[in-house]
Amino acid sequence: MEHKKAQPTHIWWSLFVGLAASGLSMALAQESTAPDDGLWYKNSIIYNLEVGTFKDSDGDGIGDFQGLIQKLGYLDSLGVDVIWLAPFNPSPGNDDGYDVKDYYTINPKFGTMDDFDLFMAEAKKRGMKVISDVVLNHTSIEHPWYEEARRSPDSRYRRWYVWSADLPDDADKGMVFPGVQRTTWSYDSIAGLYYFHRFYPFQPDLNYTNPEVQQEAFKILRFWLEQGMDGYRLDAVPFIIDVPETGSETPQRMMQLVPTMRNIMRDAKHDALMLGEANLSPQENKDYFGEDNNGMQMMFNFYVNQFLFYALATQELRLFIKAIEDTKEKPSTAQWAHFLRNHDEIDLDRLGERRREEVYAKFGPDTSMQLYGRGIRRRLAPMLGDPKQLRMAYSLLYALPGTPVIRYGEEIGMGDDLSLKERLAVRTPMQWSGAPHGGFTSADTPFRNVISHGLYGYQQVNVMQQLTDSTSLLNHIKRLIRTRKACPEIGLADFEIIPANSKYIFAVRYDYGDKSLLTIHNFSDKPQAFRLEHRLLADNQLTDLFSGQPVPVEDDQLKLDGYGYGWYRLK
Ligand code: NOJ
Repeated sequence: MEHKKAQPTHIWWSLFVGLAASGLSMALAQESTAPDDGLWYKNSIIYNLEVGTFKDSDGDGIGDFQGLIQKLGYLDSLGVDVIWLAPFNPSPGNDDGYDVKDYYTINPKFGTMDDFDLFMAEAKKRGMKVISDVVLNHTSIEHPWYEEARRSPDSRYRRWYVWSADLPDDADKGMVFPGVQRTTWSYDSIAGLYYFHRFYPFQPDLNYTNPEVQQEAFKILRFWLEQGMDGYRLDAVPFIIDVPETGSETPQRMMQLVPTMRNIMRDAKHDALMLGEANLSPQENKDYFGEDNNGMQMMFNFYVNQFLFYALATQELRLFIKAIEDTKEKPSTAQWAHFLRNHDEIDLDRLGERRREEVYAKFGPDTSMQLYGRGIRRRLAPMLGDPKQLRMAYSLLYALPGTPVIRYGEEIGMGDDLSLKERLAVRTPMQWSGAPHGGFTSADTPFRNVISHGLYGYQQVNVMQQLTDSTSLLNHIKRLIRTRKACPEIGLADFEIIPANSKYIFAVRYDYGDKSLLTIHNFSDKPQAFRLEHRLLADNQLTDLFSGQPVPVEDDQLKLDGYGYGWYRLK
């Protein structure tokens, strides 16, 4: 397989670091938080949405690309740099589009290819990039490839999937959705064979040991880049590259596929982003980042996410800080994507049972809130409950070393609908206004109900209302995004966690060129007065980035309210 050496990004990197040393860089960096050198993903605000739940333009009850076009101004004003589209290909919709029936077009319920092209053009006009999910590990069971594979033993598509004449011994192992999913091998009565599926039985795994399958995947990657896509959120990476025959729990992996896919993408578009979905240990992550800029440029930091929820639930920071330290080492071109909530459950698997129970007790006490024996299927606002903690958590998201990713509706504090199945609870339509169905659709019956009762009903929680309220969560998030953009060092620089003499305080310092930034978050609901163990602090004056005012440091002590936070320039 082909290997490419590092691209000119390295040259740019050393130049930039050189400039930084000469003190010129900050002015440059402050003007442009998304350098066009291929590292744009390091300082982007990524916003994830599903076309179907965002905005319906034609009154059929389903969101569509024309509706999304209508809302680009909103996303622009929020400060979004990159729109991440959830799967939009034709699909039976049994896993919300993660069961693809045709990789080369869009689902007609979202509009036409012309609508898609127009959306891309309008997003680009506003300077936004667009990335999308690409679901390569499996197809829908209704995909014509599988249809043919199950019917004809002689078809080449038969070898595109993974089969077994007998039920493998480990069929009850390696399931992604335990409790809902019963097996990873199901019997196909038409084929007269068992087929492998990491996920639900309607998502047969493609066989990546077959070069034809690899070639098809490369074709898909090229195809959407040629339609203007700026990169992908590569779904289920560890399962694409695993070899099922070697066992479901500890399979061998074809690690080479990652750099190969990266090269395919780079050839199609030099700065295309490969953002990996892989919930891994810090050690495993390194293999995915690769070396010399030949692996994933960006990976979701699921590891930190779990320990962050533990810290939010217990006010105990030690493991969260350790997780940040454990994931610190990575290649200079690589980046972490940080998030609070995404479209799935919060996966708390790595916490172990006792700690997971502590998080459940605080954030998901009712079993209806829990999922797959490891997670919580709730949105952030109802889960945290306390608006001060919510605001602190968002401030933290933007201050973490990496690129922040937010999910639609989180910026207004949308709630969840636990009457919906599994992860659909956090996928209700966007609440735009107090109009019927939250202004999502003019149809009598939306395809999925908008939350319409209680504290989180659209009558209370909607964009329109929050735009006019300067104290709203939406305006808080807008301010955070503006501030994050004025601090590109968060995406680019090295960081140092500064010990404090309060166990509730999380302080991080970024140094970049001649500028330094300090962000501090108080995980306790009580006010804290604390000292930071730091050589430079005493001689430095702090300027609060939100107010622009100097901050008094009395007797070397700083103060924060309960769930308080601060972003400071050190002079
Ligand atoms: C991960 C996605 O985040 C999830 O929503 C989906 O069900 C699985 N991959 C299967 O594609």
